[in-house]
Amino acid sequence: MTQPLTLVVLSAGLESFREIRAALAEDGRGRLLAGGDDAEQVYEQLLHLKPSAAIITLGANAEPTLKLIERISVECPKTSVISAARDASPDLILRSMRAGAREFLRLPINSDELKTVLDRTTEFSAVQTEEPRKKGRMIAVFSSKGGCGTSFVATNIAAAMNQPTVLVDLNLQAGDLPLFLGVEAKYSIADLVENRARLDDTLLKSYITPHSSKLALMAAPREADAADEIEPEHVFEALEKLREHFEYVVLDPQHTFDAITLAALDQADDIVLVLTLDIPAIRSAQRALEIFDRLGYQRRKVRIVVNRWSKQIDLDLRQVEKFLGEPVVGFIQSDYQPVVTSINLGQPLVESEPSSRIAIEIKRIVSTIVGNKIAVNEDTTQRRRIWDSFFRRGASQSSVDFSTTLGKV
Ligand SMILES: Nc1ncnc2c1ncn2[C@@H]1O[C@H](COP(=O)(O)OP(=O)(O)O)[C@@H](O)[C@H]1O
Ligand SMILES: [Mg+2]
Repeated sequence: MTQPLTLVVLSAGLESFREIRAALAEDGRGRLLAGGDDAEQVYEQLLHLKPSAAIITLGANAEPTLKLIERISVECPKTSVISAARDASPDLILRSMRAGAREFLRLPINSDELKTVLDRTTEFSAVQTEEPRKKGRMIAVFSSKGGCGTSFVATNIAAAMNQPTVLVDLNLQAGDLPLFLGVEAKYSIADLVENRARLDDTLLKSYITPHSSKLALMAAPREADAADEIEPEHVFEALEKLREHFEYVVLDPQHTFDAITLAALDQADDIVLVLTLDIPAIRSAQRALEIFDRLGYQRRKVRIVVNRWSKQIDLDLRQVEKFLGEPVVGFIQSDYQPVVTSINLGQPLVESEPSSRIAIEIKRIVSTIVGNKIAVNEDTTQRRRIWDSFFRRGASQSSVDFSTTLGKV
């Protein structure tokens, strides 16, 4: 239901005030809250009453009143200013519009004109009072090379969130995230896309597979054929819908720069770029960063995370960061046994082993991205040791000279 229109009026003298008041009463829609011919007083009333509209009359000396319209537009952006004048010259109309008036009303008031102006003002006011649409934060976990552990990292990032989150499998031809979450998905993103025209909350929820009270999965289609029908704009629409229902939308896209992946990366607020510390993966990450630059992504949208890190890797981290031109914000240890077990059991490690090094590091990465307090029970000594070993290695003679190695590939 639309809210009743409330008005404050600045007139040019008592006669003009009576005229406007009578016209409003005749139309019957507006509720006149206050008014008068003292500009400062009317301005104070506006600040206090925050009406949906203000009728501001321009007299012979229009300049100070135009300045007042400017102030109202800045201070009360939800109040629609209707300028009114006996002089309806194009010049005055233009100047009042430039000052911030949304409508112009000729005096003496013609009831048809007033009706049109109030119709438009009611529309504007309805939009102003609408609750802004909720928009969850979208985080794409991406690697342009397969096998770096992107799905594992995406699943655990999603499971580490402490607010309602949906994990979206964008590997449309061969998604495997139901396994990572230990669920069986009856429906997929293909159903959401197919029924997008009649989508309501209940239908949307029915297409999502719950994993826990705060984590759900939007699965990829089980049949590859269904994926062929899905266009990038469908995915965009589906993700926007999911955003309205979840605080976080975590994406696991394909490892290529296809149209759907690009659309999803574009739409995401953050990209976690996952790599392993081997030359092909570093190269691939560097190419991905170049593509992000060409796409105009701000570098702060991208966070680089190393997965499957181990002490045995003999690469100088500082050279890697220099090569990528970006710092690495997280290091997830390589620990085959618990990772494989967690995947085989369909239980994210942050849930099944929350105090493991990998879980702690993933939760720390999540809190650096979303900036809120995920319960990170961090063993700081342990972390310091990891960093120390990097920097000692940076200075060591035995480490691989990264720039020459890269030169060879
Ligand atoms: N931190 C890690 N330590 C050990 N093994 C890992 C780690 N992360 C991922 N893996 C293994 O790497 C393999 C590929 O992981 P996956 O998440 O499917 O990669 P992607 O989605 O990038 O292709 C899995 O078998 C997983 O067990
Ligand atoms: Mg994967």
